[in-house]
Amino acid sequence: MTANRVLIFGASGHLSLPVARWINYRSPQTLLRLATRSEVSKGALARLFPNAELVTADYLDPESLAAAFSGVTEVFVVTPDFLDEDRAMTNLVNCARQSKQLRLIVRILGNLPNVTLDNLTPELRNFGGGTATQHFLARSILDASGLPVTYLNMSAYLMDDLVRWSGPIRQYATLLMPYERRVAWVDPEDVGEAAARIILSGDRRYVGQHFNVESGQDILTFRQVAEMLSDVLHSPIAYDDSVERWLNIVGPRYNQIFGAKGADYYLQFYRFEQLHELAVCTSNSLGMLLQRPPTTLRSWIKANTAAFDPPRLM
Ligand SMILES: NC(=O)c1ccc[n+]([C@@H]2O[C@H](COP(=O)([O-])OP(=O)(O)OC[C@H]3O[C@@H](n4cnc5c(N)ncnc54)[C@H](OP(=O)(O)O)[C@@H]3O)[C@@H](O)[C@H]2O)c1
Repeated sequence: MTANRVLIFGASGHLSLPVARWINYRSPQTLLRLATRSEVSKGALARLFPNAELVTADYLDPESLAAAFSGVTEVFVVTPDFLDEDRAMTNLVNCARQSKQLRLIVRILGNLPNVTLDNLTPELRNFGGGTATQHFLARSILDASGLPVTYLNMSAYLMDDLVRWSGPIRQYATLLMPYERRVAWVDPEDVGEAAARIILSGDRRYVGQHFNVESGQDILTFRQVAEMLSDVLHSPIAYDDSVERWLNIVGPRYNQIFGAKGADYYLQFYRFEQLHELAVCTSNSLGMLLQRPPTTLRSWIKANTAAFDPPRLM
């Protein structure tokens, strides 16, 4: 069998870096081909993984993709919100088909369990992209390609979203999140490790599988998350579901990252999640893939208290 050469997209990101780290730790003989679009990230990756191949690859640039796919055996695919998945996955499929040694693609998705495109609100369905629709589109292209794909569907919020949202927690001791609802949680490092374990297993039975990955233990409302933060940080964190306050404080950042309608989109998305909160459920898939209990939200917060600048006695 050809030696593994694993291509990892977004290699310096919070989901992909743990894939590279786990493979490097468990199977140092496996060749890593680490892809990023950033020269700065490339430098950092070269220092972390001196034996890895580093490539500049963009899903929207077929030439760079073709070079990245050359000779690889497994591929980890994660895409950012609002990517044009039609172009990206069509390019990816075309390159993957030329890659004769390819054995497996592990693709990250982000859909609520048992929710289909038909369940989306018209606002989200007709928005012209975004996290609510893009993973369905990506999956339909990959499924139709006949390529060997395993899906890790993060039917949960990533625990480090709390760091992304930590500005108001630090400044106002408040977790801001409109449309109170129950959601599941998952540690991005656990997802990366699960992907790495699948890739290293060489087990063909993973092909075609779709796993909902969340901690298996944390379905919480945002008010409950604020209470958990308070208890772990020993400092009261309030919960505020005001749309107006979120738009004032957080909205500008979303518009900056996702374009002029970014904040409007996420409000629609949160409203949709509230409408479908009964679909949220836990599974033991991630524990099965990791062969251990996944990280809980409480233990993750405990390990990351510095991100929230809690008051200190010493
Ligand atoms: N955040 C959550 O709670 C959550 C929950 C469920 C599902 N999800 C889903 O998880 C996925 C990842 O979310 P995230 O917040 O981790 O995204 P992210 O931080 O934006 O990461 C995406 C990665 O993709 C790479 N990338 C971006 N554009 C690219 C392109 N054109 N070609 C090649 N690589 C590209 C980036 O790497 P470089 O910049 O280095 O190239 C980056 O590391 C999204 O699809 C999201 O819908 C997120």
